[in-house]
Amino acid sequence: MPPKSTRGPDMRVTLAGVELANPVIAASGTFGYGVEFEEIVSLARIGAFVTKGLSREPMPGNPTPRIVETAAGMMNAIGLQNMGVRAFVEQKMPRLRKIPGAVVIANVFGFRIEDCIEVIRVLNDTPDIALYELNASCPNTSHGGMVFGTDRDLLLELTSRCKYIAARPVMVKLSPNVTSIATMARAAADGGADAISLVNTFLSLSIDIETRRSRIANFTAGLSGPAIKPIALRMVYEASQAVSIPVVGLGGIVRAEDAVEFLLAGATAVQVGTASYADPRAVENIATNLRRWCSENNVQKVADLTGGLLT
Ligand SMILES: Cc1cc2nc3c(=O)[nH]c(=O)nc-3n(C[C@H](O)[C@H](O)[C@H](O)COP(=O)(O)O)c2cc1C
Repeated sequence: MPPKSTRGPDMRVTLAGVELANPVIAASGTFGYGVEFEEIVSLARIGAFVTKGLSREPMPGNPTPRIVETAAGMMNAIGLQNMGVRAFVEQKMPRLRKIPGAVVIANVFGFRIEDCIEVIRVLNDTPDIALYELNASCPNTSHGGMVFGTDRDLLLELTSRCKYIAARPVMVKLSPNVTSIATMARAAADGGADAISLVNTFLSLSIDIETRRSRIANFTAGLSGPAIKPIALRMVYEASQAVSIPVVGLGGIVRAEDAVEFLLAGATAVQVGTASYADPRAVENIATNLRRWCSENNVQKVADLTGGLLT
């Protein structure tokens, strides 16, 4: 018998040409701008982190209440509150640059395609950003309030115009609030996306029966957390069957075993969002436990799990 390796499993994955130490990434909107987690999570021990959504100008977000806890997750209508791309570059990037091993993915959004392009232009001039995640689930006011992520043609146009000017690989984050995720995945791929990530939150409603009003000031909100995992998993499977670019899977991951399910469904890497609210160390713990799971299950390369689902 060949001697057993003492080095442990190879946890590296390559996402759109970017090598990550492992496939576990902190999701946008649940990990601040990374620096806030510096004391809690070792950024070198997670694959990467995604910043809060960055817009051209600072945004105050929606009025409160904008968060509701649910049976197995949470609903949020934060409204993409953020400091704006220029403040991020000036105030957060200098610190992030000094954190050894931190891989920064910048999440980009805008109300019009031109806004997204402007955010990308600012980021293009900023060193040490690994890739862009384009949030395609935001309202598009110049197109009559349509949403990029639910209109195939708009998604293709958004992707191709952003990709054209982007100095880094572009990962398009898809909305799950569609009839055919395969169609949207193909639109992003046809637009030139280097990868896709899914899912964002599911449109949802919670009613206070005493007041007979929505519990959320914005009326509807996005559902995330363990409640959405089986649906997210099905969508990741369908999307990965539809395109040949890498797929990053997320939605309700709280344990390493959840991450394994997403990898088997076809994901190259995973993101962890809501779990960080219950346990701020969740992303790092999932990365550590995924390594242990691979060791215990004789998986020598985590990348070999991708698409391993038997049908
Ligand atoms: C409070 C909160 C804020 C979020 N903000 C963003 C955001 O700014 N941009 C984005 O693309 N996704 C955002 N998301 C969506 C998450 O990144 C993720 O797609 C979703 O929550 C599903 O994953 P989870 O079940 O692991 O949380 C946010 C989610 C939550 C809960």
